[in-house]
Amino acid sequence: PVPRDLKGLHIVVSAGPTREYLDPVRFISNPSSGKMGFAVAGNARDRGARVTLVTGPVNLPDPAGMVVVRIESALELRDAVIGAAQDADIVVMTAAVADYRAAELKGEKQAKVAGDVSIHLTPNPDILAELGREKGERVLVGFAMETHAGVERAAAKAQRKNADFILLNYPTQEGTAFGGDDNQVTLVRADGTHEDWPRTSKREVARQLLDEALRVHAQRTTD
Ligand code: C5P
Repeated sequence: PVPRDLKGLHIVVSAGPTREYLDPVRFISNPSSGKMGFAVAGNARDRGARVTLVTGPVNLPDPAGMVVVRIESALELRDAVIGAAQDADIVVMTAAVADYRAAELKGEKQAKVAGDVSIHLTPNPDILAELGREKGERVLVGFAMETHAGVERAAAKAQRKNADFILLNYPTQEGTAFGGDDNQVTLVRADGTHEDWPRTSKREVARQLLDEALRVHAQRTTD
């Protein structure tokens, strides 16, 4: 039987990619499948938490037993996550948020022209960092995909964004990260301590992630 050890907690999870529209029919996005975030949300629900899942466009049905908010852009993701996070105990940002959006959203489909074109992009807000600036007692968890110097970069990222820990993965491993059913991650805490977790299902990674988040939460609320 699954322990009901998250009962009484509100857990907010973001999942999937964002879409940054250039015009009504074109957008910039990434191949995030949403599987990792849906696994975290599902495990949190099974363990008794109240769950809000904020997800970009993915090919996964709404899971039962939680509030599901479907968004497209990073700005929509931000509004939904910040809103839901107000009374959250744990926020897990698995969403692959686009770093940039078009500086100007064209109202009409842009016609093809001869030769090169350039697109003016402007940075999206960093939602995890924004939550980190007004953290309260919330436990904040991020993900990071790095191709090199992963642990150092993830620890620096956790510190900069005021996250409690980051799960680091590598885009190059077959069957993991984008789209796969497995994941191989390294837990990296803001203090630089880290643990390599063996490759396993996203379900199991989700369970271990919430174990760690619960430990941090328990420590923080008893101090
Ligand atoms: O800086 P980087 O994009 O590698 O950080 C990844 C983490 O930060 C993920 O948890 C992601 O969901 C979150 N993030 C965010 N807002 C952004 C970019 C990333 O919350 N604009």
